Amino acid sequence: MNDVKAWPQVIFPLAEADLPALAVMAAEAQIGAWTLSQLVSSWQAGHLIVGLQWQQQWAGFAVLLPLPDEVELLEIVIAQSQQRQGWGRYLLTQCETWAIQQGKGRMLLEVRVGNMPARGLYQSLGYREIGRRRGYYPVPEGGREDGLVLEKRLLPEEAP
Ligand SMILES: CC(C)(COP(=O)(O)OP(=O)(O)OC[C@H]1O[C@@H](n2cnc3c(N)ncnc32)[C@H](O)[C@@H]1OP(=O)(O)O)[C@@H](O)C(=O)NCCC(=O)NCCS
Repeated sequence: MNDVKAWPQVIFPLAEADLPALAVMAAEAQIGAWTLSQLVSSWQAGHLIVGLQWQQQWAGFAVLLPLPDEVELLEIVIAQSQQRQGWGRYLLTQCETWAIQQGKGRMLLEVRVGNMPARGLYQSLGYREIGRRRGYYPVPEGGREDGLVLEKRLLPEEAP
């Protein structure tokens, strides 16, 4: 019996030509997802865009901002048709491994308080809340929603 689980391919870094297909996939996966112009600006700003590919199709991506001591996760999306099979956790774990290899001490991110799938993903990987930004996100129906700031230590903290 062959019970080895097949995982999608992690492609890093992506080319600018890959971005239009990612934008289409993101729009299907999430209301208010990053648009093509946001992805292009991010790519041109030097952010790292890590892709997940399955059977020659884009299945997800993550956008990382590397800083001197830490990496900020700016976005993570898994294609609608591929959600809930562990691929978000796989992609984020791969990003953490890359960050550790770069000697970065922690991952940092922000999430809407009402985004329960994303909060579940981060909790399952051991992220912890370190702050709350009241009314940080606009809500499409009107009003605003809090953002949670989460972190995960990747390396032991240096002694003072
Ligand atoms: C958030 C997102 C990336 C998760 O990707 P995914 O591949 O579906 O997640 P996984 O299958 O790896 O799930 C990992 C854990 O997250 C949690 N989770 C994922 N989807 C969930 C859902 N719909 N409801 C509740 N918990 C959920 C669970 O704890 C899950 O672990 P389990 O399956 O062992 O219970 C995906 O839902 C997505 O692309 N959403 C739209 C974009 C978005 O909101 N990005 C986050 C921006 S901060």
